[in-house]
Amino acid sequence: MSALFSELFAAIPAAVARAPARANLLGEHTDYNDGFVLPTPLPYLTTVALGPGPAGMIEAHAARFGETKTRALDAPPAGDWLDYVLGCVRVAMQEGAAVEGVRVAIDSDVPMGAGISSSAALEVATLRALREWLGLEIDDVQVAKLGQRAESGYVGMPCGIMDQMVSSLGTPGQALFLDTRSLEYRLLALPANHALAVVHSGVAHRLTDGGYRQRRSECEAAASALTVKSLRELDVADLPAIMALPEPLNRRTRHVVTENRRVLDGVAALERGDAVEFGRLMVESHASQRDDYNVSLPEIDALVETALKHGALGARLTGGGFGGCIIALVEDPASWWPAVAAEHPAARLVYPR
Ligand code: GLA
Repeated sequence: MSALFSELFAAIPAAVARAPARANLLGEHTDYNDGFVLPTPLPYLTTVALGPGPAGMIEAHAARFGETKTRALDAPPAGDWLDYVLGCVRVAMQEGAAVEGVRVAIDSDVPMGAGISSSAALEVATLRALREWLGLEIDDVQVAKLGQRAESGYVGMPCGIMDQMVSSLGTPGQALFLDTRSLEYRLLALPANHALAVVHSGVAHRLTDGGYRQRRSECEAAASALTVKSLRELDVADLPAIMALPEPLNRRTRHVVTENRRVLDGVAALERGDAVEFGRLMVESHASQRDDYNVSLPEIDALVETALKHGALGARLTGGGFGGCIIALVEDPASWWPAVAAEHPAARLVYPR
């Protein structure tokens, strides 16, 4: 990365940092409802090298696109990859960072449109590099919060905090159990004798599309109808009142409430090493995303069915939905994957690599 930066800008970078992609085991669309999530980092990395640049400007190169772009630091978002980087520079400046101008080189092997959060990896890597360059006194939780602020406030995608938190604080091979209300978190061992497999359906996912935003506002409408600050305040005991809400707010809320419960039950299952129960919760989670939250697609439902048919203990859509990946809990990916692939020619194994 230093070499790429030097080649592009004839200077040595002031800082180089990297951050990983993620998959989520359980707890989907709960983070913007103050709920529980259980993601894990994936071994795909985005690397950012940066240093001083021309005053008032950002000049950035993305190796994967072979593209260099230059923009004013105070420019509005343009709807491209540079928005994520500039958004991070701007939040760092709002926090008091003295940036006159910046040059950036980016490299990444995180698959795009897979729903494994190439955006959070880029934000966290950028903020880590800015922290190192400018000596910013921000901890890893603040890095995550600033990344989310850049994405929701500047890029314009009203995401929760899960992706940035796991990219900033996760440990490979462990699950991060996170309470998105308090930001308390705990690392948990993954099931022994089983492996996670992440499979791209072949259908690209785009979160900037309206579906995510619409789900989020439905949750807000449901919370206000039930006079709670967020859907996190509700529990399965509230289901009679929840189901009295109009369609689809009733089903949206039931998903969030039962999904929060599944994360807690899943954590208990992991702690006692019960992979079978964990798999069962993944299957329930998928049904809830499909039937109540309506974020799945027929191709993804079929892939989940095939994954289970060939022996997965559990399988579900992971990430924001409307395309992207499934995550499955399997005994041996090496023997499981060929059987699944034979039935889904467009699918790709993302993890294990
Ligand atoms: C996207 C968002 C996250 C989260 C998931 C759904 O990945 O960035 O904040 O809401 O969708 O669980």
